[in-house]
Amino acid sequence: MATAETNRTNNHKLIAWVDEMAGLTKPDNIQWCDGSKEEYDRLCAEMVEAGTLRPLNPDKRPGSFLANSDPDDVARVEDRTFVCSKEEQDAGPTNNWTDPVEMKATMNGLFDGSMQGRTMYVIPFSMGPLGSPIAHIGVQLTDSPYVAASMRVMTRMGQAALDVLGDEGEFVPCMHTVGAPLADGEADVPWPNNKTKYIVQYPEERAIWSYGSGYGGNALLGKKCFSLRIASVMARDEGWLAEHMLILGLESPAGEKTYVAAAFPSACGKTNLAMLIPPEGFDGWKVRTVGDDIAWIKPGDDGRLYAINPEAGYFGVVPGTSSKTNPSAMTMMESDTIFTNVALTDDGDVWWEGHDDDPPEHLIDWKGNDWTPDSDTPAAHPNARFTCATSQCPTADPAWDDPAGVPISAFIFGGRLSHTFPLVYQSLDWQHGVYMAATMGSEATAAAVNQAAIRRDPMAMLPFCGYNMADYWSHWLKLGNALKNPPKIFRVNWFRKDKDGGFAWPGFGQNMRVLNWIVDRVNGKEEAAESPFGYMPTYQDINWNGLDDFAADTFSEIMDIDREAGKREVEELKGYFEIFENRLPAEMEVQRQAFSERLDAAPEVWRISG
Ligand code: OXD
Ligand code: MN
Repeated sequence: MATAETNRTNNHKLIAWVDEMAGLTKPDNIQWCDGSKEEYDRLCAEMVEAGTLRPLNPDKRPGSFLANSDPDDVARVEDRTFVCSKEEQDAGPTNNWTDPVEMKATMNGLFDGSMQGRTMYVIPFSMGPLGSPIAHIGVQLTDSPYVAASMRVMTRMGQAALDVLGDEGEFVPCMHTVGAPLADGEADVPWPNNKTKYIVQYPEERAIWSYGSGYGGNALLGKKCFSLRIASVMARDEGWLAEHMLILGLESPAGEKTYVAAAFPSACGKTNLAMLIPPEGFDGWKVRTVGDDIAWIKPGDDGRLYAINPEAGYFGVVPGTSSKTNPSAMTMMESDTIFTNVALTDDGDVWWEGHDDDPPEHLIDWKGNDWTPDSDTPAAHPNARFTCATSQCPTADPAWDDPAGVPISAFIFGGRLSHTFPLVYQSLDWQHGVYMAATMGSEATAAAVNQAAIRRDPMAMLPFCGYNMADYWSHWLKLGNALKNPPKIFRVNWFRKDKDGGFAWPGFGQNMRVLNWIVDRVNGKEEAAESPFGYMPTYQDINWNGLDDFAADTFSEIMDIDREAGKREVEELKGYFEIFENRLPAEMEVQRQAFSERLDAAPEVWRISG
């Protein structure tokens, strides 16, 4: 049997755990990862040999590879994701729950011998800058070299993390197998995985077990499983926040820096916002990226909140990325990138839907088939990804790796909503802001304007909160109330439609105008209109430099409030809150009633003046 012996660490708890897990999974070899470039290059070379990776043309994409996953293993599997707290109530009505005793029996059965014929990689990693008081250590065991290589990009991985862990340090154990043991002499496939998949979190033990998938958030366990599901529980217990948020630094021409953190459900352009390029008319402004997906946020001694991005790389959606939508991401991907499930060009480069270049005459699609512009299926999978180090981001903030984190002045919450919700509004206070965040969501379908139902995605954490969502709201309420200088809270909606059914707001870089108002508000701009939804900018409050043809009437169209539509929202939320039963904080219902009363007092159509 492979041995867990190592001279890399004296952490007995870690060595004993690796030993025990090797006994269960029975790998042929155990490899402790040191996180070096040589190790990364070797892993990639082995994967090229095995057919998992294809090197791209070094003249076009130096240091880059293309991986094609199994067509059955292309995305996070939310219906196979479980939060196994001892009590079902503690997982709450929005999580899948199974009794942990039962789940452990299932997992032990599945993991028994699951790494036969493979190497077990031991991957120590730090989520957050090494040694930061906000960071935490995890150790992932996996039989996937794709995961081992990706973890080096996505986290601070290897010996440095072991050194921070020390002899006695605590770590979050992250167990992972693709669930495809190899019998003696059996040939491997390029993307081993198993039809049976389980993504399991044990919140009380702070442990993760993932079975059957090699893809993304299912397999790179530092990301969603640790940094959100397990960390949200740690944060509740320890008085901080683990959030599905990007972090941005906005620098004014006068050199003043304001950091904001923003939560959006998947598919709302979060990576684009994180790397926003200011539009014409914003000379001297700089937008800098701290993170595009996750924020760990702790109260500082000065009563403010400080945030780090626990990750060290991006695992971003590729289709739709172009010089227009995200020039920074285009620059990042020029080299040293692992692409997964995009299409291959005849000259050894990559292409995807929404690329600057027109579709080439011929491609190999993400499934490995010939593709031409006449084909009926997309060349790249819609969830195709790039994996790339943060250090390659041209807009990376100078403080992105600062162990102290950055001070957060505003939280921004958004969804994809065609109706009712204005472009931007600010909460009346912290409690109202928590209510605004708890009730956010996106439309489930592109149904007719004003008709589509909203799929609620509180704080964009629906698939990621590791405990009862209502308790999470209570935690937010409590945490903010204890802060001397809490961030201001905003809702935005880039997706409101006009009466012809088109988007009423140009979005992308133009969102800078909204961010500019948010920066003004948190830095002391007093005037704002007060609507039933909250504080709002008048036409004059927005910086229109460089967008002269956006008329006050058009602005009205995306800011006006229809009283009846607002009342429908109040009613919808009644039913939504009911599913949380006695765990719902009383404050939520207080806020819903207050919102209803503000609407009752408003005219049929509340119109922004100015
Ligand atoms: C992601 C997601 O992949 O939120 O980041 O789905
Ligand atoms: Mn995400």
